[in-house]
Amino acid sequence: MTRDSVRVYAPATVANVACGFDVLGFALYEPGDEVILRKNHTGKIEIILITGDEGKLSRDATKNTAGVVVDSFLKHLGLRIGISIELHKKMPLGSGLGSSAASAVAALFAINELMGQPLTRMELLPFAVEAERVACGTAHADNVAPALLGGFTLVRSYDPLDVVKLPVPSELFATVVHPHIEIRTEDARSILRKSVPLKDAIAQWGNVGGLVAGLLMADYALISRSLHDQIVEPMRSLLIPNFAQVKKAAMEAGALGCSISGSGPSMFALSTSLHTGQNIAHAMKQAFAAVNIQTDCYISPINTEGPRLLD
Ligand code: HSE
Repeated sequence: MTRDSVRVYAPATVANVACGFDVLGFALYEPGDEVILRKNHTGKIEIILITGDEGKLSRDATKNTAGVVVDSFLKHLGLRIGISIELHKKMPLGSGLGSSAASAVAALFAINELMGQPLTRMELLPFAVEAERVACGTAHADNVAPALLGGFTLVRSYDPLDVVKLPVPSELFATVVHPHIEIRTEDARSILRKSVPLKDAIAQWGNVGGLVAGLLMADYALISRSLHDQIVEPMRSLLIPNFAQVKKAAMEAGALGCSISGSGPSMFALSTSLHTGQNIAHAMKQAFAAVNIQTDCYISPINTEGPRLLD
């Protein structure tokens, strides 16, 4: 069946997952972004409406990730067609929840649906990765991969791009707390050291391997022992008010581990039940409130589905 319009939801994501800077990520059920694509007669790719961004995003389709992926997808397939894009942001920008990735993935999944699914999700992935370069200067894949493929993903290699979807233990819950401050990914990347002492690298790849093994074996104790970041968190945590207390509160409330979500300022914790996830959320919120920072919070199982066709 050919259609003239399509509406798609794509989820927020937690990138890095403590030890896996730029290589690990997982998808949440919410928040997320919604896009509506319609074929038009102008022959151009146009962004006709963006809501929920307080006017911050570019309306120029060549500069907005949603427009960029639609353009590169159509060029790749040699299709000449005009598309009107509506983007409804239902998640905060600059929050460390993969906002640009959710928009790119929603638009990409939508254009593929509109054109009759010529490409698989894995084939769509490089378009979304390139869109991240437009959004924040580097083509990192650890938000777009879980947003598009669902579940937990590992970027085994960037060149060539090799992404692995990992199994998700059924009892795993994520708590994400978003403090109301903004950190741009570009800025959070610019403060990082460019080289790493060997002893930190050893600890880090031990933990990445441990986390992947823990997911494969549904071994929650191993997952817990592996949720440490020796390399990035020590620097980025300085940008998040009361970070150490928030993390301590999460761990005392029963988290398997707690760290920064993507480039921050949101923080995530993993646990093994909704009830524990709720207790963790409460504890983390209170620790932010102690320094007068307001928060939003999301608690959900890992979203194994990825983007969803709404109609
Ligand atoms: N891996 C990226 C970073 C994710 O930490 O900079 C950005 O959300």
